[in-house]
Amino acid sequence: MGFFITFEGPEGCGKSTQAELLYRKLLGLGYPVLLTREPGGTAISDEIRRVILDPKNTAMLPLTEILLFAASRAQHVGQVIAPHLAKGGIVISDRYADSTMAYQGYGLGIELQMLQTITGYATGGLVPDLTLYIDIPVEVGLRRRLKLRALAPGQTNRLDLKELEYHRRVRDGYLKMIAQEPRRWVVIDGLRPVADIQADIWNAVEARLGQAANHRVALSLPGS
Ligand code: TYD
Repeated sequence: MGFFITFEGPEGCGKSTQAELLYRKLLGLGYPVLLTREPGGTAISDEIRRVILDPKNTAMLPLTEILLFAASRAQHVGQVIAPHLAKGGIVISDRYADSTMAYQGYGLGIELQMLQTITGYATGGLVPDLTLYIDIPVEVGLRRRLKLRALAPGQTNRLDLKELEYHRRVRDGYLKMIAQEPRRWVVIDGLRPVADIQADIWNAVEARLGQAANHRVALSLPGS
């Protein structure tokens, strides 16, 4: 039931812009689509997001951070994502569980197995049907972020402030996850113009949605 699409990528890769464009495209075609983001996505999850990202919370322990992300995600899945999918809708989430594996696992060095257990518990095992990974070199993303921050001072969050090496580990982590599960992920080169990236994303989504629809029809054929 339903179709669950997530966007992932390093800081400043442009995924939020692309998630919005995909949302508008699907909406324009009449699909029952919902756009959401993590951390956040519900009023309670947004409150947890504020605590996680607050630059004042420098004392936050890695375990606290992990459990807050998991708590925020549990509420998000239970209140928003799973009910929409159960109605047969499409959900687009700007970040989801893979961000925890990339940032807390590969980035901070927290044990991956433990993160998988916590995430499985928080999500009830809900895995995206398609994950779009927008790839850019870490330096490019951080430079884009810095430019944005210069235009809007005070917008820097706690996780933006981590060092370059950390962001390299995050990106390498994503590439490892993609290699382990290549059928779920589509890698998009994020260095090209917005319209070109958008076209690649649309090709990937259209193909997968078509496959999912055919699969469902095949499953419901009598005698099949
Ligand atoms: P945000 O401003 O939404 O950044 P972005 O536009 O890059 O998504 O801040 C979210 C930050 O939280 C980002 O640095 C990634 C991080 N994050 C984790 O570390 N773990 C997670 O599980 C999630 C969902 C996000």
